Amino acid sequence: MSRRAGTLVLFHAFPLNARMWEPQLALAGSGWRILAPQLPGMDGGHEPPLESFDQLAADAEAWLDGLALDRPIIGGLSMGGYVTLELFRRAPARFAGMVLADTRADADSPEARKGRMAMLEALRTGGVAAVVDSMVPRLLSEETRTHRPAVVARVRELALASAPEAVAGAIRALMTRADSTPLLAQIACPTLVVVGEHDVITPPAVAEALRHAIPNAELETIQRAGHLSNLEQPAAFNDAMLRFLTQLGS
Ligand code: MLT
Repeated sequence: MSRRAGTLVLFHAFPLNARMWEPQLALAGSGWRILAPQLPGMDGGHEPPLESFDQLAADAEAWLDGLALDRPIIGGLSMGGYVTLELFRRAPARFAGMVLADTRADADSPEARKGRMAMLEALRTGGVAAVVDSMVPRLLSEETRTHRPAVVARVRELALASAPEAVAGAIRALMTRADSTPLLAQIACPTLVVVGEHDVITPPAVAEALRHAIPNAELETIQRAGHLSNLEQPAAFNDAMLRFLTQLGS
């Protein structure tokens, strides 16, 4: 077994599940312990759906307590980044480092909330498949959609495993989440911001604004990837993570 370098906690995106981090298990080969919590009701779980990111952060804190983890590096992709920032709001001292991948700090705009309402309606009438169909063109870059059918199939399979109640709960939590922008200046731990070059949901300009607002942040752009950069270009994503983690590992 490799020497233990530290622990990395990774929260997953919407409407996927913890299995989206499978390509990142390769980081275990460099001694990192990788923990990927499952958000409620995703991947066929029967837990009560997500109520709010505040509640989720409280649950995550209790989960960290249960594991008696000593200051892990905590991060997530997109919705997983919202969870990360909410956890930071509650418990900043728990972070040895932070990873914010393809995510943003601000709350939903009125326009985005309208989109969420439309998504709730699509879910009601067409089920999770309708939500997935509407999201895939924005989750993945055009190149991935055209040339990497296995990645498209994987993303669909992961998303379709989510229970409709879980998807509805997550949409409601997403549209009512707090603005975390005021927290950014308080993030003192080393932070890696990652973005897919073709991310249209949280574009590179949003990532650059995060890097600028967080005192000790660096930015890695993943070429030829869209929003789900860890799945679209896993090797480049892992290389970026390792460059960051190597600076932090004891
Ligand atoms: C995600 O990938 O988690 C979602 O796109 C987040 C969002 O819709 O705000």
